[in-house]
Amino acid sequence: MTGQLVSNPPATLPRARVGASYSYLLKRLLQPGKLEKIFIERLTEPLHLNLLSVPVALFGSYRAKVAWDLVVRQQYAFPILYAADAARKYGYDSITVVEFGVAGGAGLLNMCRIAERTKAATGIEIRVVGFDTGRGMPPAIDYRDLPEHFQQGDFPMDVAKLRAALPAFAELIIGDVQETVPRFLAGLSGQSPLGFVAIDVDYYSSARACLGILNGPATTYLPLVPVYLDDIGVDGSNAWTGELLAVNEFNADQAFRKIAPFTLLRSRRIFKNPQWIDRMFAAHIHDHPKRSPAARRPVQRVLGNEYLR
Ligand SMILES: C[S@@+](CC[C@H](N)C(=O)[O-])C[C@H]1O[C@@H](n2cnc3c(N)ncnc32)[C@H](O)[C@@H]1O
Repeated sequence: MTGQLVSNPPATLPRARVGASYSYLLKRLLQPGKLEKIFIERLTEPLHLNLLSVPVALFGSYRAKVAWDLVVRQQYAFPILYAADAARKYGYDSITVVEFGVAGGAGLLNMCRIAERTKAATGIEIRVVGFDTGRGMPPAIDYRDLPEHFQQGDFPMDVAKLRAALPAFAELIIGDVQETVPRFLAGLSGQSPLGFVAIDVDYYSSARACLGILNGPATTYLPLVPVYLDDIGVDGSNAWTGELLAVNEFNADQAFRKIAPFTLLRSRRIFKNPQWIDRMFAAHIHDHPKRSPAARRPVQRVLGNEYLR
């Protein structure tokens, strides 16, 4: 299928839709396994931290809510805020964030809401882009795509309905990522560099094509791009199958671009148990001009020594 770029009229998510997100939240909570996940991830954390989350949930800023894992789809909230903060530090006004694998669009709409809240917290414009075939999973190539879990046609999408629900700063690119990613990359600009990539396409073969988005000119990225790998938790996923195989092959092919687990993320977080921490990686753009010796700030750094008199 040919890739097509679709923008949508409303500038922000309508209020009614935000209200509807509460009933959506309730529906998600009642999904099989959700309460068990919350139990394992949250109630195994120290009691005082869970108690302290209550005032943060009621009165905290958006930034505090992200720090305390109180935003729905924390795996998007943390990296988008991280990328917006990095953009500000490096002097950009805008960033691009993408979701590969959109299906019904719950993740993409959630990403849009997070983009709005992040913009309000940081002032950085955020362009949201979703990629999908529009008709569900393509055929699996072989065991590397974990066909015991995923089937052709799984996760269909109502393209028209999703288009109508997207705000103006979001786009939906329909087509196989093998074709749409190179075309998108050709139009990606340093004016709004890529700041976050979420990969939720289930297959090794699709994830490999998605990672092609990191093969462009260095200036079209932030120096470090968080990469969320949704499917590395399924049984059968390992370094020789699924998304981890795609990452390993990317790293072997690229001299100056490397994807590695996000450094010390667990120890930087208040809550240590959420699974999203293990799924968060970072693409290091080693050839980015901001990572060259020339970009070093002119002020000399000096370390004191309290043992010297
Ligand atoms: C699990 S679903 C995504 C769920 C979504 N991220 C969410 O949170 O609701 C996986 C999606 O990946 C898409 N996909 C898989 N391989 C693809 C490919 N080669 N090109 C484009 N989309 C692909 C499928 O169409 C499917 O909708």
